[in-house]
Amino acid sequence: MPSAINGTNGSGPEDQVQRSNIKGGNVESQTRCLKPMVNSGSLDKFTNRDLTPIIGREFEGLQVRELLKADEQLIKDLAVTVSERGVVFLRDQDVTPQEMKTLCERITQAAGSPESSSLHVHPLTENGSELGDQISVISSEKQKKGGGLTHQLSDVSRFASAGWHADITFEPVPSDYAMLKIHTLPATGGDTLWASGYEIYDRLSPAMQSFLEGLTATHDAKFFLEEATRLGNPLRDGMRGSPLNHGSSLQATHPVIRTNPVTGWKSVFVNKGFTKRINGVTKDESDLLLQYLINLVTQNHDAQVRFKWNKNDLAIWDNRSNWHCATYDYEAARAGDRVCSLGEAPFLDLASMGRREALGL
Ligand code: SIN
Repeated sequence: MPSAINGTNGSGPEDQVQRSNIKGGNVESQTRCLKPMVNSGSLDKFTNRDLTPIIGREFEGLQVRELLKADEQLIKDLAVTVSERGVVFLRDQDVTPQEMKTLCERITQAAGSPESSSLHVHPLTENGSELGDQISVISSEKQKKGGGLTHQLSDVSRFASAGWHADITFEPVPSDYAMLKIHTLPATGGDTLWASGYEIYDRLSPAMQSFLEGLTATHDAKFFLEEATRLGNPLRDGMRGSPLNHGSSLQATHPVIRTNPVTGWKSVFVNKGFTKRINGVTKDESDLLLQYLINLVTQNHDAQVRFKWNKNDLAIWDNRSNWHCATYDYEAARAGDRVCSLGEAPFLDLASMGRREALGL
């Protein structure tokens, strides 16, 4: 794991070696998690099951309110579990948006997020929003008016898979963890899917892995500017949870392959929603590569988990190494609250491993 990113800290020979392994990152937003975190097993006392071999774990009888009273070890173990399993589901939560914010802050801090990172303020969050700046209200009624990834009214895709994304990767400091509670839901439909970026990395040949490890990609959400104008809401161009996230460019460059500091595992870090261009190759090569990587995500249902919500279920996921996609197959109202914390500026540690190699699979 990095002792310094982009080479401003440390001066001994060991630092020189470690620095040469690190690509990307930003000295103003470095992880404080310098080696992979170890799960102490403190969550094992709660009933849980893995929903697929690759991704997803569901807990029963574990309440956020209990977690908020728990010691730091339990929160650390929750962070590691989310980062290892990609997404964790907690059924039937009696929890307020404020309590979700507190838990999200504790998880990101336990996982070593930079001091400069806090909860994200989405560029489309309305000033004076009912639940405060750091809660995104996910609502089918709001989505009908546009603004969301798959609801840009100007150009609607007929592919349900059009919405696969990781949250807010257009920010120089994107999200580490996110949390969504659905409190209003249709009788059927409205499932959410998650897919593992670790597994997609592991499905690449070694030659393709090392080729992509040398590349960066441009992530862009300029469409939010148009949506903000159309919706009549001013874009939030002040600080959005990190001093590096501000202004209206809504564009960032990140490594195509990223290391998650909590697990130490490599993951593919481009997504259909926001990644527009792989840099350093021709446009045609970029289009081909992006389409191939996105096909790996959308066409490998054995790298995905599909979650059927019950009222007040809550999901917590790691945006550094996973994608997700909502399903818009319902008419009745569906609504919930989402919180997103910011992690580190994405980096690749060339000395880190894929998940399968690290687990000896
Ligand atoms: C999201 O994309 O964060 C929301 C997912 C959902 O509404 O299921």
